[in-house]
Amino acid sequence: MPPLDPDSPRSLYLQLADRLAGRIEDGTYGAGDRIPSVRKLRDQFGVSLTTVLEACRVLEDRGLVQARAQSGHYVRPRRPPLRSEPDASEPPGEARRVDASLAVKLNLGIGNPQEPTLGAAVQGPELMPVAALNRLLGHVLRHQPAACHSYDAPPGSPVLRRSIAQRGGDAGYAVAADDIVITSGAKEAVYLSIKAVTKAGDTVAIESPAYYALLEVLASLELRALEISSHPRHGINLDHLAGVLASRPIAAVALVSNFSNPTGSCMTDAAKRRLVGLLERHEVPLVEDDVYGELVYDGPRPRAIKAFDRRGLVLYCSSYSKTLSPGLRVGWAVPGRYQNEVELLKLVVNQATAVAPQLALAAFLDSGGCDRHIRRVRRMYRDQMASMIDAVERYFPDSTRLTRPEGGHVLWVQLADEVDAMDLYDAAERVGIRIAPGPMFSPSDGYRNFIRLNTGFPWSETTERQMATLGRLVADRSG
Ligand SMILES: Cc1ncc(COP(=O)(O)O)c(C=O)c1O
Repeated sequence: MPPLDPDSPRSLYLQLADRLAGRIEDGTYGAGDRIPSVRKLRDQFGVSLTTVLEACRVLEDRGLVQARAQSGHYVRPRRPPLRSEPDASEPPGEARRVDASLAVKLNLGIGNPQEPTLGAAVQGPELMPVAALNRLLGHVLRHQPAACHSYDAPPGSPVLRRSIAQRGGDAGYAVAADDIVITSGAKEAVYLSIKAVTKAGDTVAIESPAYYALLEVLASLELRALEISSHPRHGINLDHLAGVLASRPIAAVALVSNFSNPTGSCMTDAAKRRLVGLLERHEVPLVEDDVYGELVYDGPRPRAIKAFDRRGLVLYCSSYSKTLSPGLRVGWAVPGRYQNEVELLKLVVNQATAVAPQLALAAFLDSGGCDRHIRRVRRMYRDQMASMIDAVERYFPDSTRLTRPEGGHVLWVQLADEVDAMDLYDAAERVGIRIAPGPMFSPSDGYRNFIRLNTGFPWSETTERQMATLGRLVADRSG
């Protein structure tokens, strides 16, 4: 086999895993065969033992090989995925007022976010750099007390905006610090962005299912939602969206581009480019929420739609809630041509985001700590997702279908038609298990036989027990 490419952006261990996977795919190594030993691979490819071991771990996670103690790695018998994924959604074709009361009610009853939960899309403390951030918070409070205890003003801390601008390249967009508005989390960025481009009564096209907090925003701004068919792997259906844009006034499009919530779908670059072309043709702004893009399991981080935006029509929104800490409440918007409107709204709504978290995060980003942390947690999220998929396959009835996200930490599960997710939610809550029922993600009470499971915590006996119980509750309700 030709040598690995040390200059490639893809890590050596992934290149090696891909090579070996290729040999398994083409039948060079068949079911039951032993792949070359770790030492042999090290010598053959001139890489470290750790790189080889990491590559083998990836192959194990992909279900291609199985490690046998003292003996090596053996090719697993092929088994087709046990469960198929849900079909692309078919939402109702009419724009409607949004009733987000269910989303609000369940969001308020989020429970203790520190405890492992299958419900809220939160992550365990093990997946956050809590100690490092605490140290930096203490440091900025001690050394910059005047700044930390004063009013700030939009667009927010220049040092943080500079760090964010430098990292924009990872997501493929090149912006200056002055193009960024710091917000209190991505949720605020989405709220301000949507408010900046709409007025009450307007229609916003959204993916379906949609992140429930987006529905809360649309409801509170008295906007109508038009749900667009979406695929659980590739996201919004652009043919459907193109038809809608051509046929009626749409004030804005809003979606989660990478590892969406609840489906985990991720748009391809080609789709992102085509979407920007559609927006340009119809002069329609897009509110892009990209809080999960950094949490890709393998390979480079997927690009933002903003990366393809030449005319400032994309209002990009993200935060450090999923990667570093939701409690610090630091997010940002890159509002493009709507910069002034978003800055003004930020000032009106809450003046500014707290200064100490902004400075602490800027220091963490500049130290390289963020990159190291994200590299570490990507693997944890990958393993947690694999364990959750495995548990659904073991405990849920055969009729269950599920997505296979390649990043983020939510799994979208379709149950048999006769299972009512709200009834399941109540039954699960009675035994101390929280889930997110499908109707939360729909303005039209859809997805009644769907649930979303959170995979943000390391796998534990409690999660295993909860999944076994949940599987029984689902089976009791399935025909
Ligand atoms: C898609 C999406 N956007 C935004 C948020 C919230 O982000 P923040 O806590 O930064 O407001 C979440 C949290 O679950 C989310 O899933």
